[in-house]
Amino acid sequence: MHPDIAKILLDEQTIQAKVRELAARLSEDYKGKSPVLICILKGAFMFTADLMRQMTIPARVDFMAISSYGNRARSSGVVQILKDLDSSIEGEHVVVVEDIIDSGLTLNYLRENLLSRRPASLRTCVLLDKPSRREVPYTPDYVGFQVPDEFVVGYGLDYAGLYRHLPYIGVLKPEVYQKHA
Ligand code: PRP
Repeated sequence: MHPDIAKILLDEQTIQAKVRELAARLSEDYKGKSPVLICILKGAFMFTADLMRQMTIPARVDFMAISSYGNRARSSGVVQILKDLDSSIEGEHVVVVEDIIDSGLTLNYLRENLLSRRPASLRTCVLLDKPSRREVPYTPDYVGFQVPDEFVVGYGLDYAGLYRHLPYIGVLKPEVYQKHA
């Protein structure tokens, strides 16, 4: 285990089993269709890659990057698009793929933004859900795991840009982030 990790919350095997389960559900629900997976950078890159690899229907992938909001912007729920999709989603079946939903502000904003582009359908697939942190109501269509309000990193999730490479999801030792506070 990485020395900055206090404990492993979800090990690699548990994550991969859940990814296979979600991929099977998506493959069934979108049978006969060819959905577009929208990976929200950066956190969702690993989940999106594994999810797509396990799907048995044709799918395309596109990417969006959005700014993390400062405290002032946060209350307004407005986020800035740093990188937009390459292609139009008009008439497409869209699945937004996220590593984590916390306050719900990001997905709430994205839903409104993407719906205005007139997709045929829009659903969200998140690996981790922290329902205790919700500031705006939001229920993702597909959820991997509900997690407690702890500082989780790994499998795409970072602290200060680090730990994204870990194949498991762990709780960061408090002294690691308190040092920089
Ligand atoms: C994380 C995550 C979501 C967002 C969720 O991204 O990937 O996009 O926060 O939080 P919310 O529900 O409170 O809006 P982050 O800003 O850490 O950027 P990153 O994915 O590039 O690490």
